[in-house]
Amino acid sequence: MQISFQSQLTNSAETLIFPVFKGQEMHGALLDLDKKTDGLISEHAGQAQHFKYKLGEFLLIRLPKSSGYRQVVLLGLGEEAKMNADHAETAGGKLCKMLKQVHACNVGIYLEQNIIDNEIAMDIITAHMALGLNLAAYTFDKYKDKRDEKDDKVTIENIEFVCNDANTASEIYEDLHAVAEGIFFARDLVNEPPNVLYPESYAETVKDKLKPLGVQIEILDEKKMVKMGMGALTAVGQGSERDSCMVIMRWNGGKSGEKPLGFVGKGVTFDTGGISIKPAAQMDLMKMDMGGSAAVCGLMLSLALRKAPVNVVAAIGLVENMPSDNAYRPGDIIKAYNGKTIEVLNTDAEGRLVLCDTLSYVQEQDDPKILIDLATLTGAIMVALGTEHTGVFTNSDDLWSKMEKSGAHSGEKVWRMPLGENFSDEMKSKIADYANLGAVARFGGASTAAAFLEFFIDKDRPWAHMDIAGTAWAHKDKVLGPHGGTGAGVRVLHNLISDHYE
Ligand code: BES
Ligand code: MN
Ligand code: ZN
Repeated sequence: MQISFQSQLTNSAETLIFPVFKGQEMHGALLDLDKKTDGLISEHAGQAQHFKYKLGEFLLIRLPKSSGYRQVVLLGLGEEAKMNADHAETAGGKLCKMLKQVHACNVGIYLEQNIIDNEIAMDIITAHMALGLNLAAYTFDKYKDKRDEKDDKVTIENIEFVCNDANTASEIYEDLHAVAEGIFFARDLVNEPPNVLYPESYAETVKDKLKPLGVQIEILDEKKMVKMGMGALTAVGQGSERDSCMVIMRWNGGKSGEKPLGFVGKGVTFDTGGISIKPAAQMDLMKMDMGGSAAVCGLMLSLALRKAPVNVVAAIGLVENMPSDNAYRPGDIIKAYNGKTIEVLNTDAEGRLVLCDTLSYVQEQDDPKILIDLATLTGAIMVALGTEHTGVFTNSDDLWSKMEKSGAHSGEKVWRMPLGENFSDEMKSKIADYANLGAVARFGGASTAAAFLEFFIDKDRPWAHMDIAGTAWAHKDKVLGPHGGTGAGVRVLHNLISDHYE
């Protein structure tokens, strides 16, 4: 699908789209076409009682051959005063679905009007509508037999936005497109099956994708990590036939010598629970337990594509959590990279063990000025917040206010969750420094997990933990993407960086 912005239609579109606000008069190209077709469009629009120009609603009108087009779609934009980037994306997403239904191939979208009853500029609306279309068009079908597809299958090939300020819209879209590419990379990684994407193949995939774009890649293999004393991360992976590894990515687009922003992701390529094994129902979903790491990789791709003027270090801890005769056990006491001991009470609370060593390594090596980790860490966050909001735990009110602002215009919802001494106390062990399970395990499970991570954050370092267990996977098709990996985290963090650190 090719998206471009023009001041006049240049492709041989067979489908024309006219986005219309509630109560808006026909004008411009739509009015011309209506005249050309002897009022066919106004007649249809007048008759269609159900069509109220609500956001994302549409009216399809077939055209006679003589008009030169196959069909026209009136796309409702809702109220002009309420239009914003989010709504534009929703309109674009719904349009994508509908274009597929009517077998559109070459499409012209007319957004020539200037928006009057609103502060937002039309070029921003246009670019975000294009982003919505792009995000909604994502598919993951590489494992489907293409021979089963009908020869006459139509795919959307070419979309042209016809708008007054095509150059500006195009410039805005270029950055949004880089973010979309990052989101797609994250979705792809999450959607890959766990027999294909395991720690070492994951590391290779990331290297192949990011190194050519100028991202420096460092890979620590399992042997090295054991030698270095990363006893928490390597304990989780020791039951698996697949070797664990850590990938560190560095993007130095900022001033040389300036401290980087730090990101860390949980990359459990499959979480069986280990010896504390999970129930069978829906265990397949635990291929998504690397969603945090996928978001981090997607973020790096977006930044590199955009050549962002900022220094960033990102690290992902990659392991597979398996039961075996060599697996770590409940009762084991292991030693983390920072020298602290951890009593393992449940091998299914593995994410925090992977993260703690990865967090320690990044802080030791790169001393980041802020540090944010992402993880599909707890079922408890889904109980608390459902599947729309990512839970954020942070030691910094300042960082939170930045994240909240960036979340508000990223299409991703973030919600602050509590840390505190009560939670931290629960994570202390009687016989080791810490335990990996809360003493009252059932209560506040997302907060006790976060409190465990906090033990490994250096004093005075602004840090946030994002629990994306509820948001990394879509259990059904959504407007801006299908069932499966969502890429949650990429966009809010990308906006956080571009809003506050560039
Ligand atoms: N990967 C899971 C959390 C998870 C659950 C992610 C559902 C996505 C969807 C994590 O490793 C886990 O098993 N957490 C346990 C922790 C418990 C043993 C303290 C949980 O949430 O039950
Ligand atoms: Mn687990
Ligand atoms: Zn897990």
